[in-house]
Amino acid sequence: ANPSLLILAGDGIGPEVMTEVKKIIDWFGTKRGIAFDVSEDLVGGCAYDAHGTPLTDATMAKALAVDAVLLGAVGGPKYDNLDFSVKPERGLLRLRKEMDLYSNLRPAQCFDALADFSSLKREIVAGLDIVIVRELTSGIYFGEPRGIITEGNERVGINTQRYTESEIARVARSAFELARRRNNKVCSMEKANVMESGILWRQVVQEVHDKDYPDVELSHMYADAGAMQLTRWPKQFDVIVTDNLFGDMLSDLAAMLTGSLGMLPSASLGAPAANGRPKALYEPVHGSAPDIAGQGKANPIACILSFAMALRYSFDLGDEASRVEQAVEKVLADGLRTADLMGPEGGTPVSTSAMGDAVVAALDAS
Ligand code: NAI
Ligand code: MG
Repeated sequence: ANPSLLILAGDGIGPEVMTEVKKIIDWFGTKRGIAFDVSEDLVGGCAYDAHGTPLTDATMAKALAVDAVLLGAVGGPKYDNLDFSVKPERGLLRLRKEMDLYSNLRPAQCFDALADFSSLKREIVAGLDIVIVRELTSGIYFGEPRGIITEGNERVGINTQRYTESEIARVARSAFELARRRNNKVCSMEKANVMESGILWRQVVQEVHDKDYPDVELSHMYADAGAMQLTRWPKQFDVIVTDNLFGDMLSDLAAMLTGSLGMLPSASLGAPAANGRPKALYEPVHGSAPDIAGQGKANPIACILSFAMALRYSFDLGDEASRVEQAVEKVLADGLRTADLMGPEGGTPVSTSAMGDAVVAALDAS
């Protein structure tokens, strides 16, 4: 059977950038003989409009059955005043929760043509290629007790950082597996100096390493020092594994080493299934960008690179993934720029669809 892919384009620029990804999926089918069983469905505001819920049970069941889900973006001003229980992002949260996507991969890859877009100097970021693995389903965003209580005559806001050994071990495994596909190097970040969960994190990551991944080079760093090192000399890292809270911040920080939001892909992975493929959802980091939706201005590259991640991590097509990444590199080197990439050095302004066509043409020439 062909590998199966569920496309949930969502709202705003989601369907616009997804249209470009579909051109690339078609290219693989016709030019490389690599066909996918593609189905499409609704998520977010468009699902609410059609069904009164941001994700139907039927769509959820489809997501659980396919090899990979590719999502565009959800949300928009039209839905801002909906009840919390049916807000567009609840659809995304339900997908993450029911697919148990505990490992969030956020690459920070600096294409040479965009090195001047970074908030850092060119020599610090040119050629940068690292991945932050963020634990996504536990930690302080979920721990109990939580809430705002009254103590004496004032209010107290409470959140709890809580990690079980198995939660740490599974995301550590995911990072070590990733490292084996890359350069065999992992840096784990926590605050073992001041947090109990950090002490356990460091111990469990080390134990998983010593038992099953002794071939991978492992180091540990306090997360605050890690933030410093990420801006001082990011190329010292390859794979970074960290908890939900630190990963949220460190991945946003790393994102700005590389330039535009329109360039950033992500993968969220769960437990490997019987066929070895992890449950997986791929999506650009950006949202539905209502300010530019419907104008042909959106940069499709983040979504295209998310599909490249699917090729690599769900379908074991690493060489084909690199082919897509090189095609992106090529169009950028040729000076093609959607509006978000237009810097002082100029370039050739292109629309969403012209950018997608150019990537396909570069694939053809590869
Ligand atoms: P956003 O990422 O949609 O937009 C932030 C800024 O970046 C905007 O100026 C936008 O035009 C620009 N931008 C984003 N993606 C771009 C692309 N591919 N090409 C060119 N420019 C791009 O974040 P914002 O404005 O905070 O949120 C807008 C809506 O998206 C909200 O409803 C929010 O809830 C939702 N959202 C959804 C996410 C998801 O589906 N995973 C993630 C973040 C926000
Ligand atoms: Mg964030």
